[in-house]
Amino acid sequence: MGKGSNGGHENIFTMEATPIKYGPGASEEVGWELKRMRVGRVMLVSDPGIVASGIAPHIRELIEAEGIEVEVWDGSRVEPTADSLQAAADFARDGNFDGFVAVGGGSSIDTAKVSDLIATHGGEIMDYVNAPVGGGKKPPSPLKPLLAVPTTAGTGAEATTVAILDIPDQKVKTGISHQYMRPDRGVVDPMLTVTMPSSVTSSCGLDVVCHAAESYLTRPYDQRPKANNPDDRPPYQGANPIADMWSAKALEYGGKYLRRAVHNGDDVEARGHMMLGATLAGVGFGSAGVHIPHACAYPIAGLKHVYEPQGYPKDHPFVPHGWSVIVTAPAAFRFTYDAMPERHREVAELLAGEKIQNADENTLPEIIIQLMKDIGAPKGVRELGYDESDIDALVEGAMKQQRLLVGAPKDVTEDDLANILRESMENW
Ligand SMILES: [Fe+2]
Repeated sequence: MGKGSNGGHENIFTMEATPIKYGPGASEEVGWELKRMRVGRVMLVSDPGIVASGIAPHIRELIEAEGIEVEVWDGSRVEPTADSLQAAADFARDGNFDGFVAVGGGSSIDTAKVSDLIATHGGEIMDYVNAPVGGGKKPPSPLKPLLAVPTTAGTGAEATTVAILDIPDQKVKTGISHQYMRPDRGVVDPMLTVTMPSSVTSSCGLDVVCHAAESYLTRPYDQRPKANNPDDRPPYQGANPIADMWSAKALEYGGKYLRRAVHNGDDVEARGHMMLGATLAGVGFGSAGVHIPHACAYPIAGLKHVYEPQGYPKDHPFVPHGWSVIVTAPAAFRFTYDAMPERHREVAELLAGEKIQNADENTLPEIIIQLMKDIGAPKGVRELGYDESDIDALVEGAMKQQRLLVGAPKDVTEDDLANILRESMENW
C-alpha cells in the first residue's frame, strides 16, 4: 500500500464554509458587504411575498445607497422547476450583472445559484443537473459573487453547494451540486423571519433537524472509496470530525429552540437560534451529506402534487421540503441503528438535551416523533397524499438518488426502502 493509503478507502476530507455574518439587524449591512465584494451591478433574486413584505425593497435601497445598481427578479417560486429557473437564468444572462444577491427562502437562494451559474458559464440548466437525470456537467471555474440573505430558518442554502429543482415531466426532484455553487457570503438576520407563519417555522425547523441527524449518521468519509483525483471527490464526503461539530450544534439548537420558535413567533432568541442552526446544519450536511430521508423526500415531493400546506402560497399544491424529509426519518433511523448504535444515541441525546441510558433502535425515532407531534407536523406519508399502492413508485424515485443513498451508513435495497416507506405511512 502506498503512502497514506487506507485500504482503497478515502483518507482525505475538506472543510469549506460560507463566511456568515449573523445577528438581529445584520441585514442592514448588506450594502457594505456587497461593496467589499467589488460588484457594481447586481441581480437581486427574490419572490413576490418577500417583495410585498417590504424586505426585498429595503435591501435594494441599502445596496443602492452604496452606489451599486440593482435589478430585482421576483419570479422565484417555492420548489423551483427547470422552467421557472430558466426564466431567471435568461434574465441573468441578458442583464450583464457582475454579482448576485438572494433574498428569500431556499428557493430564492437556489434560483440565484442557478442564475449565477448560467450567466457565468452559459449552457442549458439540464447540462449541469446531476446525472442520470441531467448531464452532470461541472462548472469549469468559480461563479460571479453571490451574497445570500435567508428569510427562513431551514434549508441552509446559504451554506450549501446544491440547488434543488423539480423536473415535472420526469416526476423527479434533483439538483445541481458542485463546490462552486456555494454562495460567497451569507447574512443571517433573525429579524427577517419574524413574520413567518408557524407552520413554515415548523417545516423549516424539522428540515434543520433532519439534515443534522442524517449528516451525523452518514457513512464516514474513511469508509468510502478513495477518489481517483480531487475533481472526483464528491461535495458530500461522509461523516468527518469537522462536519460532526456543526451537525451536533444544530441538533442541540433544534431540540432546545424549535418548539419555542413555532409556538411564539415573537421569541427572537428561539428564532435566532433556529436560523443559526439552519446555517450550522447547512455547513454540516454540505460537508457530510444526507441520505435515506432526503432520498425518499424527492419522490414524496415530486410524484404527486395534491397536498395543500398551511401558511404557504396557495397557487400550487406541494409538499413543503421539511415535511417531505421528516416523515420517513423515524423509520429510516430505526433501520440504520445497528450500523452505528452509539452515534444514534448521541443524536438522541443532543436532541433531548440530556444523557440517555439504555438506548435502543426506537430511542431516536421516538424523540423525533415527539418533536413532530409537538409542532404540528404531518403524521406520515399518507397525510401527504400517498398510500400503499404508491410504494413501488416512491421506491423507484428514491433509488434514483444514489448520490444520496451511498451515504447511508449501511447498504439500502429496494425492499429496505419499501419497508421504511410502509412504516412511515403513519408515525403515530
Ligand atoms: Fe433538506
